[in-house]
Amino acid sequence: MKYVIGVDLGTSAVKILLVNQNGEVTQEVSKDYPLIQEKTGHSEQNPDDWVNQTVAGLSDLLRNFDGSPEDIEGISFSGQMHGLVLLDENNESLRNAILWNDTRTTAECEAIYETVGEAKLLELTKNPALEGFTLPKILWVKKHEPEVFEKANSFVLPKDYVRMKLTGQLHMEYSDAAGTLLLNVAEKQWSTEICDLFGLDRDFCPPLVGSHEEVGTLLPEIAAETGLTASTRVFAGGADNACGAIGSGILEEGRTLASIGTSGVVLSYESSDDKDFQGTVHYFNHSSPDAFYTMGVTLSAGHSLSWFKEVFAKDEDFTELLADVGSVPPGANGLLFTPYLVGERTPHVDSAIRGSFIGMDSGHRRADFVRAVLEGITFSLNESVEIFRKHGKKIDTVVSIGGGAKNEAWLQMQADIFNAKIVKLSSEQGPGMGAAMLAAYGCGWFDSLKECADSFLKVDKEFLPKEENVGKYAELFELYQRVYVQTRELNKDLVKFRK
Ligand code: XUL
Repeated sequence: MKYVIGVDLGTSAVKILLVNQNGEVTQEVSKDYPLIQEKTGHSEQNPDDWVNQTVAGLSDLLRNFDGSPEDIEGISFSGQMHGLVLLDENNESLRNAILWNDTRTTAECEAIYETVGEAKLLELTKNPALEGFTLPKILWVKKHEPEVFEKANSFVLPKDYVRMKLTGQLHMEYSDAAGTLLLNVAEKQWSTEICDLFGLDRDFCPPLVGSHEEVGTLLPEIAAETGLTASTRVFAGGADNACGAIGSGILEEGRTLASIGTSGVVLSYESSDDKDFQGTVHYFNHSSPDAFYTMGVTLSAGHSLSWFKEVFAKDEDFTELLADVGSVPPGANGLLFTPYLVGERTPHVDSAIRGSFIGMDSGHRRADFVRAVLEGITFSLNESVEIFRKHGKKIDTVVSIGGGAKNEAWLQMQADIFNAKIVKLSSEQGPGMGAAMLAAYGCGWFDSLKECADSFLKVDKEFLPKEENVGKYAELFELYQRVYVQTRELNKDLVKFRK
């Protein structure tokens, strides 16, 4: 039997999947690393933690593998998007990576609009200037840490850094480059116009490759440390959301994905680059050759639930925490939660907004809070579903992956709130599976990613909307939407009291 490995470099951990030629996940390893949040709005990680934990995870996987390492033909990567890793002339990282959920760059986003112009930026990059994207982070370091920036020779994104340390080759691939605000998304080339406007040298942007392209083999020392062979073929990989889409079969028009990891996204396949969403959703290159996807992002989706667990139920696991949510009625007995713990992106680009529980009552028990958190996250994702519907998309079926697909009450809640059929696949590991599929396709196991998806992905269960809940949730969603409007100014005034 032959195998491929999919590495998903997430925000809380790296998850590594060993997948066989039947698409079965035969081994799974997860290794976590810390998030560094020194100030409100800041979110960083040490890039070498990613590399060390990936190598440690691969070693664990190989230690428990009873086949021959030669049977593992290829490896590919999925990774958290947008994070800035600045490199010196020896390709060593110059400072901690500044992550996708770091919102310190509001001033830099304004400067981008002033310099490029909003319409021009949208025309070139198909996206607005958002704090989470990479160019604002580059400008922040240039302004606030000029001594660091002076040494910067180029930059990469998180999974590209790990792949570079495993192969010795520096590349960036299109699906992740699309989230930098430096790529001309339609032309699949670095925008010389934007680079020039910000004084960035052409060589500052690394060579571009396609997601399924082979970029080399493992360095001998990495092979020796992990137990893999030095001839293991390495494929570029993709942004976690692009890989999540591949790993969920979002490979043709009309397919929609809801993914709940640390962030939450609602993502829709696009075959062309010319739809006009006026920047209300992100518009990126897919990891499937020459395709695109549009996507709305909730910054703190799974993160809201992990935060709640960490603060109020540290010693329990998620199964215990969620055990009673099914017994609480829709609406959590009058308790509403907004998941703006680190600010928000879709539909409110707002780095100052923070979350709320509205309607707390002395009758509420912990299960009401847990249900309210799940509902708040799902309402937030529904804002993206609504944007897609307003722009004429038909959303009647949604594939759900990540944390939201691990609990049946939450899957039913998604069906009721989105008013759509929810599909749960037999593996909810979208991004890691998508990375493994890029390696399988790259190795020539299939003629297309679609063929690979048809062979690898199986529907486990479907959840249909329940009419009585759909009506209730439609009413609650309107109330939920009013919370942002009513707490926006309050939160601006609270900024000065934050750490
Ligand atoms: C997408 C985004 C997040 C990260 C999470 O634009 O910022 O979904 O990719 O890993």
